[in-house]
Amino acid sequence: MKINTSDILSAVNQYGTPAYIYDGEQLVSNYKNLKNALPNFVDVFYALKVNPNVSLVKLLRSQGACTEVCSITELEIALKAGSTPEDIIYLGPCKKDYELKRAIELGIYAIVIESETELERVSSFANNAGVTANVAIRINPDFSAEGSPWKMGGRPTHFGIEEKQAIQNFGSYLATPNIHVQGIHVYNGTNILEAQSVFENTSYILNLYDQISQKYHYHFTMVDVGGGMGVPYFQNQEPLDITMFKELMVPLFTSFHDKYPDTRIIMESGRFIIGTAGAMAVQVNNLKSNHGKLFAVTDGGTNCHSAAAGSGRVVKRNFPIQNISAGSDTAKKMYQVSGPLCSPDDIIGRNIELNEIHLDDILLVKLSGAYGPTSSPVLFHSHGYPAEILLYQDESFLIREKDTSMDIINKQIEVDFKHTKLITN
Ligand SMILES: Cc1ncc(COP(=O)(O)O)c(C=O)c1O
Repeated sequence: MKINTSDILSAVNQYGTPAYIYDGEQLVSNYKNLKNALPNFVDVFYALKVNPNVSLVKLLRSQGACTEVCSITELEIALKAGSTPEDIIYLGPCKKDYELKRAIELGIYAIVIESETELERVSSFANNAGVTANVAIRINPDFSAEGSPWKMGGRPTHFGIEEKQAIQNFGSYLATPNIHVQGIHVYNGTNILEAQSVFENTSYILNLYDQISQKYHYHFTMVDVGGGMGVPYFQNQEPLDITMFKELMVPLFTSFHDKYPDTRIIMESGRFIIGTAGAMAVQVNNLKSNHGKLFAVTDGGTNCHSAAAGSGRVVKRNFPIQNISAGSDTAKKMYQVSGPLCSPDDIIGRNIELNEIHLDDILLVKLSGAYGPTSSPVLFHSHGYPAEILLYQDESFLIREKDTSMDIINKQIEVDFKHTKLITN
């Protein structure tokens, strides 16, 4: 993120904290960086689960990104952002009837099938609608990506159909009425920092495609090899070597493309594209010393950014944090940076050295564009969703209003207890 701190300070001054700040130029350049490391016949699908803000998706769409969605709301956001049905895939282990029907009605490029029963459901809805639905079969392979802290494949998960079962039953998938099988989908892991690991994972999936095509003498038209390209959050982590990535992936995809020129190759990515393009700005509300430690209490913690608070991690490590209200030459002190929750775990900076903090200072939690509020318990303590601000081409845009109390309260329904005598003192 290359935005200067004075622009961030004036944006949060205008729109309030906690707020997510996005650098539009960085977002575009990350997308191009990935796209340029791949042959032009490989399509990059941006995963909305990582950050579904319509303006960010629209900016990526303007650069040519396709979209991967996991709920009807993500589907509608993708359409609003300018995505067209032929550039949308829809996956996820729990798709409701109305979600499948909407995807079928739109005729999206592929509904990614996560189980044989789901295939039956899609077939029956397509039959009722008198159409043929495009699908891809998600396979949970017998292989798992090295170097991925979270593995979706190669182990028991609720994703996809097991490799052996899929290979054995593919004939029946192809024969399912009102179904057109575009190809296969595999998503194995996330936050992978070694190019070699992405290469090995991709090679495995392309081989699987080859194997199933040969076995069934079927002309598929799509292979989705997932992705999982990562971002280095912590000390001693190195960024993905994009030059090496290109050197490995281009020949791999080229030889596959030579053999299967009509097959659309899809890579999915979220974190790599948006992770470094966002930061969370929080304001210091209190400074206190407690049992020998100095605490800076801020207005955004786990509730806005559970990843930075280390939720789901055994070893909690700090995202990079900067006190942008302080000059870089000011003295440093050791802090515990907390959020606003009444939970001892609500710490986004543990034993972290920062330029001396004063009340009302703004702290910036960097590398926060991916899996921020969208995967955080934003309603805990009823604080609500933070503001989102895009800085792009020397302008600042509020791209999501911070939730107000009434936004939250108005969703609750107050019962009129006519027959209950209320005890009042
Ligand atoms: C199927 C699928 N696609 C895409 C993504 C986005 O992954 P990443 O943020 O690693 O690019 C995920 C993340 O879990 C996923 O499960």
